[in-house]
Amino acid sequence: MDDMRHGCLVTMLLLFLSTVAATPHRHRLSETATDRYLTKQEQWFSQTLDHYSPYDHRKFQQRYYEFLDYFRIPDGPVFLVICGEYSCNGIRNDYIAVLAKKFGAAVVSLEHRYYGKSSPFKSLATKNLRYLSSKQALFDLAVFRQNYQDSLNAKLNRTKTENPWFVFGVSYPGALSAWFRLKFPHLTCGSLASSAVVLAVYNFTEFDQQIGESAGAECKAALQETTQLIEKKLATDGKALKASFNAADLEIDGDFMYFLADAGITAFQYGNPDILCKPLVEAKKDGEDLVDAYVKYVKENYGESTESYDQENLKNTSVSENSSDRLWWFQVCTEVAYFQVAPSNDSIRSSIVDTRYHLDLCKMSLERASFLMLVQLTYIMEAQKLLVPE
Ligand SMILES: *[C@@H]1O[C@H](CO)[C@@H](O)[C@H](O)[C@H]1NC(C)=O
Ligand SMILES: *[C@@H]1O[C@H](CO)[C@@H](O)[C@H](O)[C@H]1NC(C)=O
Ligand SMILES: *[C@@H]1O[C@H](CO)[C@@H](O)[C@H](O)[C@H]1NC(C)=O
Ligand SMILES: *[C@@H]1O[C@H](CO)[C@@H](O)[C@H](O)[C@H]1NC(C)=O
Ligand SMILES: *[C@@H]1O[C@H](CO)[C@@H](O)[C@H](O)[C@H]1NC(C)=O
Repeated sequence: MDDMRHGCLVTMLLLFLSTVAATPHRHRLSETATDRYLTKQEQWFSQTLDHYSPYDHRKFQQRYYEFLDYFRIPDGPVFLVICGEYSCNGIRNDYIAVLAKKFGAAVVSLEHRYYGKSSPFKSLATKNLRYLSSKQALFDLAVFRQNYQDSLNAKLNRTKTENPWFVFGVSYPGALSAWFRLKFPHLTCGSLASSAVVLAVYNFTEFDQQIGESAGAECKAALQETTQLIEKKLATDGKALKASFNAADLEIDGDFMYFLADAGITAFQYGNPDILCKPLVEAKKDGEDLVDAYVKYVKENYGESTESYDQENLKNTSVSENSSDRLWWFQVCTEVAYFQVAPSNDSIRSSIVDTRYHLDLCKMSLERASFLMLVQLTYIMEAQKLLVPE
């Protein structure tokens, strides 16, 4: 019995760092039927707003879920599934559920502060976003974990007992999962960090380069030619071009080219290169219009609404199911960057999508407050360079 108090019986640290670039943001987990979830029953936790202030005692309501059907009472493990830059709508019935069943684990999942229904403020004005950071989120997880353990102990009529905890996350939550393990090693037995973006990268040119490698020479050349043709049309008849992609509302050319770049990479990031490469390479061979082929691909395969790419919408400070873009850009602009810019040589995406574009987006959509944070971000990047020599 006392064994549990002195840490975990099994210590595992699994870090699956994907070399294929992971893009957090925008491609949110798609909403599906209830049977894809173990539970969607909302629970609420009173969370500290600012973990770094000894004076500020404000709280906010943070959403979480619990699933106890597989739990081996009293000493089974607890799996903490970390949610990220999206509305967290339940505990999904995925491989973690399989593991939970196998190990007799309780599964709990905490929504990331600000996202979904866990917004501390009724307005997402930039000044209200000052408590939105991965650092605060890590403390949220720690506090939640402690409180949940206490309430579990109370339920089981015992004190000072610790179940073995294990944290899980994918993409940005994957990074949180790894960081949590590093920051609070006494609070977990281990962490699974899947496709974890653990390193903040300022000019993330490697992203585009990796897409080129994944595409292979023939498809890459077709993609590059397509981008050049699109850039030419953009300069001469941008309105008609945008309309042909159902993207007339993207008035800023950078937004439009980013949208087209994301549409393309989706095929590679989610393992269906053929749906893009086949028609493009064939069009090229048959002397057909590459832009038409790309239009067809985007319309048939890329369901994301153009709203996510429109800087005008990123300025919207109201809390809604669509706030995630603004919130994630705030984190991108202040903490992690991962600016997916075109490399100076041999890029697939348009060179319009450069560092300037990203910085303008940060300034435009987040107003004055973000400027200081950008400065701070630059310092973080410089410091990181010292830690991780190139
Ligand atoms: C909890 O433990 C106390 C002390 O051993 C005992 O008196 C009480 O009945 C227990 N309650 C439950 C719900 O098991
Ligand atoms: C990123 O790229 C821009 C433009 O090419 C350059 O001015 C800047 O120094 C780069 N920053 C870093 C941190 O690499
Ligand atoms: C902001 O978003 C809310 C909720 O989605 C919407 O009702 C409102 O019309 C938007 N405001 C503007 C100015 O677009
Ligand atoms: C969120 O965006 C979707 C897709 O663009 C739209 O259909 C929906 O009305 C928006 N919701 C709100 C509350 O604005
Ligand atoms: C540009 O990219 C091509 C193809 O990958 C490569 O052969 C060439 O060396 C690169 N040039 C520079 C200046 O990096």
